[in-house]
Amino acid sequence: MPEKVFVFDTTLRDGEQSPGCSMNLAEKLEMARQLDRLGVDIMEAGFPIASQGDFEAVKAVSAEIRRPVIAALARAVPLDINRAWEALKEAERPRIHTFLATSDIHLQFKLRKTRAQILKQISEAVGLARSLCADVEFSPEDAGRTDRNYLVECCHAAVEAGATVLNLPDTVGYCFESEYEQMFAFVKARVPGMDKVILSTHTHNDLGLAVANTLGGIRGGARQVECTINGIGERAGNAALEEFVMALHVRRDAVPVFTEIRTEELYPSSQMLSRLTGVAVQRNKAIVGLNAFAHEAGIHQDGVLKNAITYEIMKPETVGMPSNHIVLGKHSGRHALSKRFEDLGYQLTKPELEHAYEAFCRLADRKKQVYDEDLIAIVDEGFHNIPEMFTVKLFQSVSSSEGRSTATVELEKEGEVFHDSATAEGPCDAAFRAVDRITGVPGTIVDFSVHTVGAGKEGIAEVSVRARFEGREFSGKSVSHNVVEAAGRAYLQAANKAAYEVKRRGEGASVGAKPVHANAIVDRFFPGGY
Ligand code: KIV
Ligand code: ZN
Repeated sequence: MPEKVFVFDTTLRDGEQSPGCSMNLAEKLEMARQLDRLGVDIMEAGFPIASQGDFEAVKAVSAEIRRPVIAALARAVPLDINRAWEALKEAERPRIHTFLATSDIHLQFKLRKTRAQILKQISEAVGLARSLCADVEFSPEDAGRTDRNYLVECCHAAVEAGATVLNLPDTVGYCFESEYEQMFAFVKARVPGMDKVILSTHTHNDLGLAVANTLGGIRGGARQVECTINGIGERAGNAALEEFVMALHVRRDAVPVFTEIRTEELYPSSQMLSRLTGVAVQRNKAIVGLNAFAHEAGIHQDGVLKNAITYEIMKPETVGMPSNHIVLGKHSGRHALSKRFEDLGYQLTKPELEHAYEAFCRLADRKKQVYDEDLIAIVDEGFHNIPEMFTVKLFQSVSSSEGRSTATVELEKEGEVFHDSATAEGPCDAAFRAVDRITGVPGTIVDFSVHTVGAGKEGIAEVSVRARFEGREFSGKSVSHNVVEAAGRAYLQAANKAAYEVKRRGEGASVGAKPVHANAIVDRFFPGGY
């Protein structure tokens, strides 16, 4: 009888803490809703002691997302554990996830503690967590490099103190698959009471082995897998959720386990994360990359046309990737658009549909055929709940191979239209500067990437921008036939988010948030105060 493997998603914690992947509260909530749709069993919403933002995110996710278990991370110390519990209290199914390093390398150089001291700390920390919450996960950090007999002692201490889940992380992505598998079998066979405890994998991709090791852990007895969307995470990342889920799905003949992930939500989840963080998915990324189902070689195309099974081990629809069918043109109306979005799995609200329709008309004006992937790019540009302070009226740019480029921008705010121009080395830079001149809040570009959506001359540009405003980073994404316009819109989206975040913090909407006193963003976007 196949057994269920529980999917523990840590995109909002291990993923979010990696460089370039940070999300604000609204973005984390949007992602959390998608993870719920995807069907994850557990979502780790943050590390509450790490920052006020993480605390608020865990609290907000706990209050809203009711089906899955919501986990919060805590070091094995009372301060962290109490803070995690404070953030989790409202959750329908809360879990405290506490961790302490157990390898000699970490004991000697990081913690400067003896093995005996660590064992005592594990018992106390897990005991405290268990006195607050019925579901407690313990992770011996760097388990992969921990002496196996000592690891058994640590796990025993945690189980005796009440741990319900034991997670054995390969924190530094060092293990080979067979070693990782054997570690699970070793612990399972030697720690008393394992029949009541779930074993969990947590792998990092430093040697490109995170998913392979996850499968090894499952063979060794793990029934929970920790992973992230698109494999984001510390350094080279964590095990990619979509990869191990599809490995188990496609090769269910080889491994007698299953997950309850809705595979058609894999591609939308990947796209949403990419939009929220501004981090693009590499084209050849397994399962969700643009090339994952593209057949270029003539011999492959010929085979696929005769029967897809020749070169395709899974169907793009299974992972929610749209087919390349022509769907709509410039004469299509709102109804047809709304129906097509429904078919693609998007339930748009009226204002969202209106927003999408405007973007669609702009596109259809310049492009004969609008493809599913264009429509998804439009949605992914975001109708997130963040109000736009400034909206775009016009982007115009002149550039030449000789000399500087000029951009002219017209933005509207509360019925008033502002326009300004700027020059720079390149047209995108000129557009950013013109936006800055109107908003009065200069940003610094941290990351900028352009991708084409769709094939050949008909393709449209999808631009992702990450910019720093007053010390904090925000991302924006936009699509257009015109790269400069897409860049300018993406940049403005980031600026609007910066303004919204300042306003939100200033309103003290979240627990413990300190009012932010007037600064450049506030003055410019909310001149009358807020
Ligand atoms: O990689 C790791 O060891 C972790 C733990 C906190 C589980 O992320
Ligand atoms: Zn980790």
